[in-house]
Amino acid sequence: MTDPLVNAAVAARLRAHAPYSRFLVGAALRCDDGSVHAGCNVENAAYPQGVCAEAGAISAMVLAGPRRIAEIVIAARGSRPCTPCGGCRQKLREFAGPEARVRMVDEHGQVLMQSTLDELLPHSFGPEALGF
Ligand code: THU
Repeated sequence: MTDPLVNAAVAARLRAHAPYSRFLVGAALRCDDGSVHAGCNVENAAYPQGVCAEAGAISAMVLAGPRRIAEIVIAARGSRPCTPCGGCRQKLREFAGPEARVRMVDEHGQVLMQSTLDELLPHSFGPEALGF
């Protein structure tokens, strides 16, 4: 497990606050400047207030400065890939083009599935649609 992006997602997963689902998730983003930003899911006793790992990683990225995501890794336990939820696909699309690579890995960093954002969110609505 030598890929720093995979390592970041696997490590972030262990920081998750997921006492309700017990489903720990880590996400890591590599930006166009090479920087890496990670997040974990943070659940809440008021269930709908929980936040996905991808959203946490995006917040960390925005706080640090970069705005362009080149690659995404999502880490969860088991052999079934943890694909991003619908809302997170759209959140990622704000900062990533359709060609961005998305890899789903297990808790050890083993790649379970590889995709592009376009495959996960076809015909997406992005900032370009508003002229940005
Ligand atoms: N979750 C994520 O953090 N990212 C995903 O891609 C899918 C699901 C979280 C939300 C919730 O805390 C737990 O996993 C179970 O749904």
